[in-house]
Amino acid sequence: MFARYDVLQRLMNTMAFAYISQEFILLSDILGLSLLVDSIDHPKPPSSTEGTVLGPFHTHDAISEPNGTQIAHDPNGEPCLVVCTVKDTEGKPIEGVKIDIWETDSDGKYDVQYEGREQPDQRAVMHSDKEGVFWFKAIVPVPYPIPNDGPVGKLLKVLKRHCYRPSHMHFMMEKPGFDHLIT
Ligand SMILES: [Fe+2]
Repeated sequence: MFARYDVLQRLMNTMAFAYISQEFILLSDILGLSLLVDSIDHPKPPSSTEGTVLGPFHTHDAISEPNGTQIAHDPNGEPCLVVCTVKDTEGKPIEGVKIDIWETDSDGKYDVQYEGREQPDQRAVMHSDKEGVFWFKAIVPVPYPIPNDGPVGKLLKVLKRHCYRPSHMHFMMEKPGFDHLIT
């Protein structure tokens, strides 16, 4: 009982520290609270793709590109071909979905994390074709660390968890008449 109280007290302390350190959103994300609130506030049908948080690295300047474009230009990245199909909850393809895509380079950094960024890289906007397909050339995603020098990093250490996000790409999909999806 005392041990549990101690854990709760430490969590409360971390939450207060995170709030003061402006890491409250990060803390909410790692605890799963952000997605829990979203799933309660915005429930989806069972066959839908689960949503996730937008994250801090989305920008509004990604260039609209045709299918097949090379969206990542990091020579050290491992090339990959990404082919996706957007379907409705009954499995029918959806044409004309606008898809905003962004990923890191092979060092786990988004273009906006570099000083002197002149133009977007590792990001693009695409549209699904009449089969619901969009495809592009990119690099194989790599894991990257979340900020870990503050209270959230401390909490992860106490919990014996590492601070790396799994390798991923971000997709934000929109079409009038359909639910907005970030995944
Ligand atoms: Fe990310």
